[in-house]
Amino acid sequence: MVLADCPVRDFYAKGDKKMYNAHKRFALFIGRWQPFHEGHKYLIDEALEKGENVCIAVRSTEISDKNPYTVEQRAEMIRRVYKDRVEIIAIPDIKSINIGRKVGYDVNRIDPPEHIGKISGTNVRAGKDTNVPSEVGEYIKTLHTTLWLTGLPCSGKTTLAKRLKEELDNRGYKAVCLDGDDVRGQLNSDLGFSAEHRRENLRRIAHVAKLFNRNGNFVIASFVSPTNEYRNMVKGVIGNFKLVYLKCPAGICEKRDVKGMYKKARRGEIKEFTGVSAPFEEPENADIVVDTAADGPEICVRQILENIKTERLVDSREYVRKW
Ligand SMILES: Nc1ncnc2c1ncn2[C@@H]1O[C@H](COP(=O)(O)OP(=O)(O)OP(=O)(O)O)[C@@H](O)[C@H]1O
Ligand SMILES: [Mg+2]
Repeated sequence: MVLADCPVRDFYAKGDKKMYNAHKRFALFIGRWQPFHEGHKYLIDEALEKGENVCIAVRSTEISDKNPYTVEQRAEMIRRVYKDRVEIIAIPDIKSINIGRKVGYDVNRIDPPEHIGKISGTNVRAGKDTNVPSEVGEYIKTLHTTLWLTGLPCSGKTTLAKRLKEELDNRGYKAVCLDGDDVRGQLNSDLGFSAEHRRENLRRIAHVAKLFNRNGNFVIASFVSPTNEYRNMVKGVIGNFKLVYLKCPAGICEKRDVKGMYKKARRGEIKEFTGVSAPFEEPENADIVVDTAADGPEICVRQILENIKTERLVDSREYVRKW
């Protein structure tokens, strides 16, 4: 791996421990950057305008309501704004900065103008102000998305959801899967399959997805969700939502019959089974359609990821030093 390609760099080349960029001196900015906003940008821009070499250190804070974004995600926000004009490093979550006399560098406090100083990460996170650079805003939106997989039983929802999660985890997202079987067996075990209960099942799941999204998680929800009315309802609750339709002819789904449910439905042992004794409406407004009859899982996953534009996210395990 070439160090110069890394958005978040160790200052030591691996192996020979040579100082990286030791010939340069940097103005160091340490922060949580939760998220990186216009107030932060003001400080950095000033230093860059003065011709300083800038190094931005990202504190490795524990994930919490106040710190919803991972180190990788915050590094990515900064990288999107400055590309390679700044160095980005991950540092431990520091408690203090301690210096003695004549340490060989200045410790400065910068007081920005009032309107800039007022910008706060807390308000940005609560959606009370939108003072983030547009590149960061766009990126944050992708982090708070729910990808909703709809399709007949055995169309491949659980299979694709698991693979998508792996891919997204590798790209620095915190991805959470909500899957029909898990939710039905536990959270919503009081609900059956009548139209009213199906709707209630999905309504609750949508609220869970929204809570996860609000905390910086990317959600992959995989549910049959057989009608446009249900899909529109969950979209209304979640907001930042992409509908993925796993298109697969009923005959092929029935042949797959992974859990033997189609057979049971045909024998009349399960009532109101989608695809046999309950209807499945084609989605009217899918954002992404994958053909799981014609294409294998790898191709479908790639198509979905291309659509949500994660290709610029690098594999975080490759470049962030963990503390
Ligand atoms: N392109 C594809 N995407 C996903 N699964 C595929 C694809 N092609 C073939 N399959 C196979 O189809 C089956 C889909 O089963 P899976 O349990 O993922 O479906 P499901 O939609 O979650 O069903 P259910 O609604 O009953 O939970 C798996 O055996 C999987 O290997
Ligand atoms: Mg499933």
